Amino acid sequence: MSEKNPSVHYINYLELDKILNAQHPISGDGKEAAHDEMFFIIIHQTYELWFKQIIHEIESIMDLFKEEKINEDTIGVIVSRIERVNKILKVLVQQIDVLETMTSADFLDFRHHLSPASGFQSHQFRKLELMLGLKIKDRHQLGGCPYHNEFEGAKKKEILSLEDSDSLFKLVEKWLERIPFLKMEGFDFVDKYETVVNEMMNKECLSIKESPLLSEQDKALRIRMIEENRIYFERVFDERVHQKAFDNAETSLSYKATLSALLINLYREQPILHLPSKFLKNLVELDHQIATWRFRHVQMVEKTLGQKIGTGGSSGQGYLKKTVDQHKLFTDIANISTLMISRSYAPELPKKVREQLGFNFTDKWK
Ligand code: HEM
Repeated sequence: MSEKNPSVHYINYLELDKILNAQHPISGDGKEAAHDEMFFIIIHQTYELWFKQIIHEIESIMDLFKEEKINEDTIGVIVSRIERVNKILKVLVQQIDVLETMTSADFLDFRHHLSPASGFQSHQFRKLELMLGLKIKDRHQLGGCPYHNEFEGAKKKEILSLEDSDSLFKLVEKWLERIPFLKMEGFDFVDKYETVVNEMMNKECLSIKESPLLSEQDKALRIRMIEENRIYFERVFDERVHQKAFDNAETSLSYKATLSALLINLYREQPILHLPSKFLKNLVELDHQIATWRFRHVQMVEKTLGQKIGTGGSSGQGYLKKTVDQHKLFTDIANISTLMISRSYAPELPKKVREQLGFNFTDKWK
């Protein structure tokens, strides 16, 4: 920082006096204090600072998705921001290694001072979950008590208003629904896809039936495996089948958004779909990094607390384990892989469609 302008000094700019004076162990003063409590406070504060940065990035991504038209430049910005979020999440997962240097005995030296405080009361963590799309109806409830009862005043108001606002999941779904390439220039994606999928499945079944290397039992098993996959393909072929799965909560992504996500993945090498496919990949990565954090956190809790209940009053590891899978949000995007077919089967795009999916300069050099 500049020495000439003391108002922009490193210490002032970063408000270090505030941050570095915000650690106040409650287990005692000086030698009386439990040694690891300082560490416990600092690691939580570090997490909260990173949560703040993640929220800042996700908020900006959501603002960009709220725009009526999202061009390639905007998608480029969105991709670079979500990639940053994923790198931060990796650090947050790794930080559990540091947390695990605190043993159960070290923690017990001061744990009794903490109750009823708990990570369960992290306002930023709840805010992030809500912004991504984890609404109360989809949560694993702790003791039948809504989680927002932990907050009061402006914080509670903010949480409740996020419950009613469009989440990143919703905004991405709406964006996918707006993508215009499903029917164009006489190219009907679903129609072509259905033809090649049936061709592919018939061929696979035939080669199993004719295989001299498989027993009749193996043949029946493999054919059953192929047939069981058909239910997922049928959701693409027929919107009513998808709707039924949606009503039964087997999927939460709309029909049109599912088709677009599939098209983006199938034709991800087309220039205009390259960044959207990178974004979808990062969205799944984000979901998986958070799930990995939840999993590492619960394993750490198992080592530190065993079967003891949490200071927030939950069953501890029992409650946390349930959230690992149940609180994932972008599983339907990850599950597009069920619908993927090899490049050799992907319906060929007519020249006019390819031109529209390519950047303008592509054809000039042909
Ligand atoms: C010794 C270290 C830790 C222990 C033993 C521990 C234990 C627990 C327990 C038992 C819960 C369940 C709620 C309850 O009954 O309290 C919980 C929730 C939570 N903890 Fe930790 N935790 C530790 C460190 C951390 C750290 C460093 C963070 C970082 C911010 C954190 C964030 C959270 C969050 C966000 C929840 C809510 C999870 C949810 O409801 O999905 N915890 N923790």
